[in-house]
Amino acid sequence: MDISSILQGGYQHPLSRSWQSRRQLTKSMLMYPIFITDDPDASTVIATLPAQRRWGVNKLAEFLGPLVKKGLRSVILFGVPLKCQKDGRGTPADDPEGPVIQAIKKIRELFPDIYIAADVCLCEYTSHGHCGLLHDDGTINTEPSVERLAQVAVNYAKAGAHCVAPSDMMDGRVKAIKRGLIDAGLGNKCTLMSYSAKFASSLYGPFRDAAGSAPSFGNRKCYQLPPAGKGLARRAIQRDVAEGADIIMVKPALPYLDIIADAAQLAPDHPLACYQVSGEYAMVCAGATAGVYDLRTMAFESVDSMIRAGATLILSYFTPQFLDWLDE
Ligand code: PBG
Ligand code: ZN
Repeated sequence: MDISSILQGGYQHPLSRSWQSRRQLTKSMLMYPIFITDDPDASTVIATLPAQRRWGVNKLAEFLGPLVKKGLRSVILFGVPLKCQKDGRGTPADDPEGPVIQAIKKIRELFPDIYIAADVCLCEYTSHGHCGLLHDDGTINTEPSVERLAQVAVNYAKAGAHCVAPSDMMDGRVKAIKRGLIDAGLGNKCTLMSYSAKFASSLYGPFRDAAGSAPSFGNRKCYQLPPAGKGLARRAIQRDVAEGADIIMVKPALPYLDIIADAAQLAPDHPLACYQVSGEYAMVCAGATAGVYDLRTMAFESVDSMIRAGATLILSYFTPQFLDWLDE
């Protein structure tokens, strides 16, 4: 056998195997997506999203307390208004009494060291379930959409969010939000994490059940990216960098590892997030339940591949489990 044919000597031990990765998953790389509803005492199971619930603000201490003890560092909040009146402009999104603003304040008070990101979108709050404001013919009306999203983002930042994360995919919203933050005196107090390359995916189903945000007509294909659109994704990433995004995100994650790798090259000086979305999480869980693989092993394999592709921050519903697994 030729000397250069032998590779196995380099990874025969668990420790030498760990040296083969450039970076490894740590607790601080995990951001936990959580659903906050407007019934303050709620703790409601979500049928399609295993082990996740919709929480009311009064339950946040008992829900998050044990996770914070295990090393949880950050959360991203999604509002689920069930009682309020939805309308064309998503008025409930930044209602001071609404779930997101109430949760931001509560978490800051309860857990001052937790980094709080707030997802910014209108689909949970609009009567039509689309992510922006619409023209009469049902198409997106970009300018007022972007203006409204910036207003919501600034109100989340004023309430104390450390990060605002627009997931709407309207053109120009990153620039408008950054401008809004600066004009409100919050330019240096709030991070802007852009869902830059967000694809029109089949993997958002459980999230839409959880958040009640499915569109009442049509789909999101005129604003979320076509799954085969690599060039568009690259352009969106570069645009959002130019418009002032502090963190770039790719979503979903596992079927889009090439886009994560592209983003790592196009935005090498930015943190790079990816979102292991609801359907990916449900798929990994379902495979384990069907006996296809061991849940923990597969969860690590999925996230390790995202890190290998270049992600430095991972939004995952597995976060509570990873906090345990990383201690074992
Ligand atoms: C809403 C939003 C969605 C997700 C995050 N923000 C769903 C969608 O675009 O329909 C998906 C997250 C997940 O599936 O876990 N703009
Ligand atoms: Zn939306």
